[in-house]
Amino acid sequence: MNDIFYIENYINNIEKRPLFLTGDAMNILSEFPNNSIDCCITSPPYWGQRSYEGGGIGMENNVKDYINNLLEITNEIKRVLKPEGSFWLNIGDTYENKSLVGVPWRTALQMTDKQNWVLRNSIIWNKHKGGMDSANDRLRNVHENVFHFVKCSKGYYYNDTAIRSNPRQTIVKNGSVISATGVSGVSYKRKIELSTALTEEERKHALESLNEVLKRVTSGEITDFRMIIRDQHRATHSDKEQVSGRAKELILKGFYFLFYNPNGTLPSDVWDIIPEDTHKRKKHYAPYPEDLCRIPILATCPENGIILDPFCGTGTTNKVAYELNRKSIGIDISDEYLDIAQKRFTQLKFAIEEYYD
Ligand SMILES: C[S@@+](CC[C@H](N)C(=O)[O-])C[C@H]1O[C@@H](n2cnc3c(N)ncnc32)[C@H](O)[C@@H]1O
Repeated sequence: MNDIFYIENYINNIEKRPLFLTGDAMNILSEFPNNSIDCCITSPPYWGQRSYEGGGIGMENNVKDYINNLLEITNEIKRVLKPEGSFWLNIGDTYENKSLVGVPWRTALQMTDKQNWVLRNSIIWNKHKGGMDSANDRLRNVHENVFHFVKCSKGYYYNDTAIRSNPRQTIVKNGSVISATGVSGVSYKRKIELSTALTEEERKHALESLNEVLKRVTSGEITDFRMIIRDQHRATHSDKEQVSGRAKELILKGFYFLFYNPNGTLPSDVWDIIPEDTHKRKKHYAPYPEDLCRIPILATCPENGIILDPFCGTGTTNKVAYELNRKSIGIDISDEYLDIAQKRFTQLKFAIEEYYD
C-alpha cells in the first residue's frame, strides 16, 4: 500500500489517532490532495545547528540553499492547506562570522513576497533560558520566532473565543455595580459636567450616553469600558481625523466609548514558555514544548479538523492535537523519532482511555 492510499483514507475517515509517515517531507507532501489540511504547525531543522538521524535539511553549505529548500516545502504546504487554513512556523536563527543571519525573517519575507502568504503575527517565544552560551561580547539569546501565516487575508478560520483569557467580572462596591477594573462612572460624570471643551448640548448628550453604558454594565451586558472625552483624553491611535475614525468622533461629538470584549482579552504576541529539558535524553533531538502548539490549534483548527506537521520529530504537535480532539498527520525522515512519537502517543492514548473508563 502506498502513502497516497493512507493519506486519502485518513483524511476521509473519522479516526483521530495520528497518522505518522516516514520519509522526506517534500516527497510525501507531493502525495497530498490540494486543499485538504486545516492547519500546519512545524519546526523545521534550523540551519547548521545539528544533524538529525536520517539527514534531511539544515546541513546546506549556505543559508540561501537552506531557505530555498524550505521554500519548496512552504509552497507545498500552501497547496495542501484549505483556503481558510493557517500555517505556524517556528524557526530559529544562527550566527555566521559573528553576525546574526536573520534566518527567520529572511524566510518569512520570501514567503510573503514570492509565495503570497499573508503574515498575521510574528510571535516572540521567550524561552527564558538559552542553550550553553560561551560568548562574552553579546547578550544571551533566549527567544525564537513563531510566524502565523494564512493563505487568504479574509475568511480564514480563527476561533478567538477559544483562546481569550477568562473575562473579568463586574464588581459590587458600596452597593453599586462598577466595571471589572473599578470604573463607576463618577469621575467621567464630573469631567463632563466641568468640561469647557464641550457645548451644553454635547455635555447633555455625553451624560445620557454614559448613563446608558452604566445601565449595560449593571445588567451584565458589558464588563468594562473607557470613555474618551474631548480635551480630557487623547484619541487612542491618532489625533488626526483623516487617520482615526475615533479622532473624528471626538471632534464631531465630543466623546466616544471603548468597550472591552466581554469574552476576555486575546493572548499577546510574546509567549513565555520554558523549553523542553533535553539534557537527560540519550538522543540529540529537539522537541518543542507542548504549550507552543495549544494556541495555534485552538484558534486555527476547528474541532475534527486535520493538523499537519511535516517535520514532526517526536510527535509533539500530534500529541497536543489528539488531546484537543483534532486529527493529525506527522511526517519525519527519521524512523527512530517516529518510533518515539508512536510510543508517546500510545502512552497518551492509554492514559486518556483509563481516565474515561
Ligand atoms: C526541530 S526537529 C522537530 C521537533 C519536533 N517539533 C518535536 O517536538 O519533536 C526537526 C525534525 O525534522 C526532521 N527532518 C529533517 N529533514 C527532514 C526532511 N527532509 N523531511 C522530513 N523530516 C525531516 C528531523 O528528523 C527532525 O526530527
